[in-house]
Amino acid sequence: MGNAESFSRRGFIGMAGAVAAGGLLTSTLAGCTPTPQHAKATWTPPASPMRFPKGYVWGAATSAYQIEGAWNEDGRGPSIWDTFCHERGDAIADHSSGDVAADHYHRWRTDLDLLASLGVGGYRFSMAWPRIQPTGSGASNQKGLDFYKGLIDGLLERGIRPAITLYHWDLPQPLQDAGGWPIRDTANRFADYVDIVFGAFSDVDADWFTLNEPKTQAYNGYWYGTDAPGLMEPDKAAATVHHQLLAHGLTVQAFHSHGVKGRIGPVLNLTPVKPTDAAAKEQAKNVDAVQNRLFLDPILKGSYPTDAIGTANGQLPADPGGFAALIHDGDLKTISSPIGVLGVNYYGVAGVDLNGQMVQIHPTSTANWEQIWAPGLYELLTRIKQDYKKTPIVITENGMPDDVLQHGVDDPKRIDYLRSHFQQAARAIQAGVPLEGHYVWALIDNFEWSQGYTQRWGLAQVDYLTQKRTPKKSFGWYRSVIKANAVAPK
Ligand code: FCB
Repeated sequence: MGNAESFSRRGFIGMAGAVAAGGLLTSTLAGCTPTPQHAKATWTPPASPMRFPKGYVWGAATSAYQIEGAWNEDGRGPSIWDTFCHERGDAIADHSSGDVAADHYHRWRTDLDLLASLGVGGYRFSMAWPRIQPTGSGASNQKGLDFYKGLIDGLLERGIRPAITLYHWDLPQPLQDAGGWPIRDTANRFADYVDIVFGAFSDVDADWFTLNEPKTQAYNGYWYGTDAPGLMEPDKAAATVHHQLLAHGLTVQAFHSHGVKGRIGPVLNLTPVKPTDAAAKEQAKNVDAVQNRLFLDPILKGSYPTDAIGTANGQLPADPGGFAALIHDGDLKTISSPIGVLGVNYYGVAGVDLNGQMVQIHPTSTANWEQIWAPGLYELLTRIKQDYKKTPIVITENGMPDDVLQHGVDDPKRIDYLRSHFQQAARAIQAGVPLEGHYVWALIDNFEWSQGYTQRWGLAQVDYLTQKRTPKKSFGWYRSVIKANAVAPK
C-alpha cells in the first residue's frame, strides 16, 4: 500500500485510487490510448525556429527546502517538512530529508554563477518562512533576512531578475502544532510574515509570488497524506484551500500597501483533464473544478465553483456546508484582489474515468504523476485567456526528472521535453496569450519531497557526496535557446 503514495504525488489518481494506482498508472506507454479529443489537437511545429518576443524571461526555478539545507543554522526554526522527514522517515522514498539538500545555503554564490552561465534573465527561488520568522509568529530573524538580501543582491549584480516565492510548503512547525492551514489564524500569521518581508524588501523589483501550488499543499498534505504534515482528512484539505487563498489575498493587499516594486500573483499548478469515455464528462468536469477552477475562480473571478466539493465522482469529498461556513464576508473580495501576474506550473494532463479517478492517458516519467503532453500547455494557456480576465502569465515551473535509463549528464529526453513545451509556449503567444516568461524546474538536482533524492530534476547534476554541480546536456541546449531567444525544430 506504501506504493499508493508515490502515485498520488500530485493527486493524479484522485481519492482512494488503489485500483488506478495498481493498474493504470503503472502501465507503460503502450497502455496509453489517445482519446479522440487528443487526435484533433495535433499540431506540427514550423520548420524554422519559433522566436519569442523581446524581453521574454527565460529562467530556472528552485525552492528553499529542496536546495538550501542548513535546516537548523543561523536561527532557522523547524518547518513541517523537517518534522515530516525526521519523524515519518518511511514516508520518504529513501528515508532522507532536506537537512543538507544541495547545501545551497553555503554555496549560493557559485549557484548564482551557474545561473549566470546559463544566461537566464530570471531566477525563481523561495524564501523560507521559518528562516525569516522562526516560530511563524513574533520576531523576525535578521540572519535569515540577510541571507535573502545577499541572494537578491547577487542576482542583481549578475543582471538576473528575481522571481520570489513567499511560501513553498515550509510552514513553521509551531503553526502546524496550533492547527496549521486548516485554521484561519494561519492566514493571519502569513500576513504578519509577509509584512516582515515586504518591510525589508520593498525596493526589490521582482515578480513576487504568494504561495506555490496551494493545491498540492492542501491535497497532498491534508488529504492524501503524502506530503507534510501527512494528514488524510478531506475537510481539512478543503479548509486549507480556503485559508491559503485567503493568505494569498492578504499578501496581495500587503504588497500594495507597502508599495513594493514589481508585481505579484499566485503560482497555480493546473492541468487539462480529459474524459476517457464519452460518459465520463460530468466526472471530468468535477475533476476540472477540483484541479483548476477551485483556485482560478476565486482569484480571478471572486467566486468558488459549486462543483468542486462534495461526494460525486471526482469531487473533493469534504462537506460543502462546512466549507461554506469558513468563508467570511469579504473573504472573496480579499482573495480576488487584483494581481499583476499569474504563475502557472505545468507538468501535464490527466484522463478522468467513470469513477472520477485520474488515470493515465499519456506517457509518464520517473515521476509517475506526470503525464507528458506538450499540447496540453497550449490548451491550458488559451483556456485561461478565454475564460478569465486578461492577466500576464509566466510559466513558473515546467520540467521532468532524469530518465531511469539515462547515463550521467546525457539527458536527451529532457531536451525533447523542453523543446516541445517551448514550442507550445510560442504557439500560445502567437494565439494572443500574454505569456511573458518560462522557468524550467529545476536549476539543480534537489530534494524531491516524498521521493527524496531518488528523482533528479536539475539542468545541472548534483553529486550529493561532494556537492559538485555538473551541467547536463540540457543545460547547454537551454543556454542556446536563451541566447537565440528562439526554439529550433529538432
Ligand atoms: C512541483 C513543485 C516543485 C517540484 C516539482 C517537481 O509541483 O512545486 O517543488 O517538486 O513539482
